[in-house]
Amino acid sequence: NAAGHDILLASGYRSYEQQQIYFSNYSRLYGEESANKFSARPGQSEHQTGLSLDISLSSRQCYLEVCFGDTEAGKWLAEHAHEYGFILRYPADKTTITEYQYEPWHFRYVGRDLARALHESGLTLDEAYPYLQKALAELKSQGVVE
Ligand code: DAL
Ligand code: ZN
Repeated sequence: NAAGHDILLASGYRSYEQQQIYFSNYSRLYGEESANKFSARPGQSEHQTGLSLDISLSSRQCYLEVCFGDTEAGKWLAEHAHEYGFILRYPADKTTITEYQYEPWHFRYVGRDLARALHESGLTLDEAYPYLQKALAELKSQGVVE
């Protein structure tokens, strides 16, 4: 908002029970397989960690729709979220890797260092995960972390 956009938090933390309600409603409407392209099964949503949030224009134009990515706010977020430790979690060109459709409204907090590394490398969290695990194992073996 300080950069001149008019945005609000559409969805943040969701409990297992809330996610279950969303997912079963979408499944009833679209079938389970199609629903799972844009809605996580309960137990699998990042929203349950409290680390992810969905952002909307205050006007609710393109609300949780792909066209949000074409708005000035959507473009600003994709370009600057990493400066605040967030990543665009489900990019348009990585749907086969993330196994979710393009969600220009969904951002995941990973901390500034990792967010910047992912932004600059163009890697998704899924692609970086094996490297992160390896790095963590090394730190553990060195006794740097438990
Ligand atoms: N829309 C994302 C995939 C979720 O339900 O967590
Ligand atoms: Zn989301």
